[in-house]
Amino acid sequence: WMIVKLLLGAHLAAQPFFLLAGPNVIESEEHVMKMAKHIKAITTKLGVPLVFKSSFDKANRTSSKSFRGPGLEQGLKILEKVKAAYDLPVVTDVHESCQCEAVGRVADIIQIPAFLCRQTDLLVAAAKTGKIINIKKGQFCASSVMANSTEKIRLAGNQNVMVCERGTMFGYNDLIVDPRNFEWLREANCPVVGSIHEKLCLGYHWCSATIEKRGTLALIWQM
Ligand SMILES: *[C@@H]1O[C@H](CO)[C@@H](O)[C@H](O)[C@H]1NC(C)=O
Ligand SMILES: *[C@@H]1O[C@H](CO)[C@@H](O)[C@H](O)[C@H]1NC(C)=O
Repeated sequence: WMIVKLLLGAHLAAQPFFLLAGPNVIESEEHVMKMAKHIKAITTKLGVPLVFKSSFDKANRTSSKSFRGPGLEQGLKILEKVKAAYDLPVVTDVHESCQCEAVGRVADIIQIPAFLCRQTDLLVAAAKTGKIINIKKGQFCASSVMANSTEKIRLAGNQNVMVCERGTMFGYNDLIVDPRNFEWLREANCPVVGSIHEKLCLGYHWCSATIEKRGTLALIWQM
């Protein structure tokens, strides 16, 4: 976890590159362990600091029949095991304020889903855990809005915040990544990460099929 703190300290230099990666959703303990082992082997070989990412709940699936994950309690137990087994920091997302405290006991980085990036109560509850907060820029938001979202974290007493570019939605099912946002997000005065998943995503039909079939792709790089 020191690695992440150091990265936050050095954020304006945009060095070193680090990676948040893992299966989109926790499919099972066995699957998560297998993924962590393989990803860690790759990043160790390449010398890239890794933060393991997986969600315990996908709270906004387009289809009500899609697999959502094991839920908070079971999911956190699995993430705790990954941390211990592979000595990795972990990042996972929260969907409601009441989840923040429990998630903060396990996660090193708490991620705020894009749809919820302006939700003041959720941001404040997450900030109060003292963990690093990664706010995904809403697909409906200008990058300038993120300066206000990061301010909500700071005003709640937590300086450890970063923002993530994940594309913009124009209402045609396609997410468009405008690379100017990476530069503009610096206005939030914190590290900027980019979600590669959305950059590979040509509309939700294709996207959700990918998630269900392969269950991967939450790669994030630091700018
Ligand atoms: C749904 O929420 C997850 C976090 O739970 C987020 O990563 C993802 O981008 C959201 N999906 C869409 C289509 O916005
Ligand atoms: C951010 O908050 C300020 C007030 O603190 C407000 O004037 C401004 O319009 C907000 N910015 C955005 C992009 O909503």
